[in-house]
Amino acid sequence: MCIRLITPLSRSSVLCSFSRIMAIRQSSDMSKFKEALKAAQDIVILSGAGISAESGIPTFRGAGGFWRKFQASALATPGAFKTSPSLVWEFYHYRREVATKAQPNAGHKAIAKFEAKYGKMKKITVITQNVDGLHIRAGSKNLIELHGNLFKTRCTKCKEVLTNYDNPICEALAGRGAPDEKAVAEDIPEQALPHCRRYSCGGLLRPHIVWFGENLDYEVLQRAEEAISSCDMCLVVGTSSVVYPAAMFAPQAADRGAIVAEFNIEPTPATPNFHFYFPGECGKTLPLALSE
Ligand SMILES: NC(=O)c1ccc[n+]([C@@H]2O[C@H](COP(=O)([O-])OP(=O)(O)OC[C@H]3O[C@@H](n4cnc5c(N)ncnc54)[C@H](O)[C@@H]3O)[C@@H](O)[C@H]2O)c1
Ligand SMILES: [Zn+2]
Repeated sequence: MCIRLITPLSRSSVLCSFSRIMAIRQSSDMSKFKEALKAAQDIVILSGAGISAESGIPTFRGAGGFWRKFQASALATPGAFKTSPSLVWEFYHYRREVATKAQPNAGHKAIAKFEAKYGKMKKITVITQNVDGLHIRAGSKNLIELHGNLFKTRCTKCKEVLTNYDNPICEALAGRGAPDEKAVAEDIPEQALPHCRRYSCGGLLRPHIVWFGENLDYEVLQRAEEAISSCDMCLVVGTSSVVYPAAMFAPQAADRGAIVAEFNIEPTPATPNFHFYFPGECGKTLPLALSE
């Protein structure tokens, strides 16, 4: 079982992993999709960074994938934190500020509304790769945050996980984290970065995020796999489908016979394997798809 967060995979390796899936006839017919959704009893909605793009939170692909001169995904690694906890905390301080200012958009709201309306009649699970907390703020309840949350910290020594909405999270980060290339990174001494307040611990805190190269939390992954293995319908929203293990979830569901519908502004390596594909911004397509 692959549980380590890996990216990016080449298009050919992704296609190769999907080779077991038979070619299917794809449709963008919204009324057919709605019929299938009405009949479905166990629905998984799998979201990625694209659903938050319309809330102003950059994805890791394309132009928004840079912070200063660094590729964002290169800073989301244990190696980067080891080399420079100051730089990585500045990056996360910036991301926390962006997420705090952002509001859930029509896509997040459509999902939460759908769950509120049908959640007693059908099993509805949201699995998100996002760490921005916008699904929770929109009102989603049965939510699995695969990769952690920007507003949680974990002590590197005693491993305690705490929710923390302080802004800034420590004095030394006040006014830091500017994303433009010319911003100067002055090394913040480690003792001035966020630390554990537990008596006799005092370990350095890190964001409670699954970084590239790290394992996903076993229980979280198990919950997600259970949902994927029981669903009869899966909606894949705003994910590039190249970050494993989440990239395998929808193809696995399709392989088992579940109906899979993808919502993305552009096709992904996984698109040919899905029953429905709805191009466009999911802030527009999802409210249509999930309404009566
Ligand atoms: N908001 C967040 O929490 C956030 C932001 C950036 C990265 N990440 C992390 O980075 C990793 C990246 O993987 P990923 O697949 O989630 O994101 P990604 O950045 O790899 O891909 C984003 C996808 O969203 C699509 N997209 C962009 N705007 C869209 C829109 N308005 N409507 C529909 N689709 C749209 C793009 O075409 C692309 O396929 C994940 O592990 C995630 O945790 C999270
Ligand atoms: Zn501690």
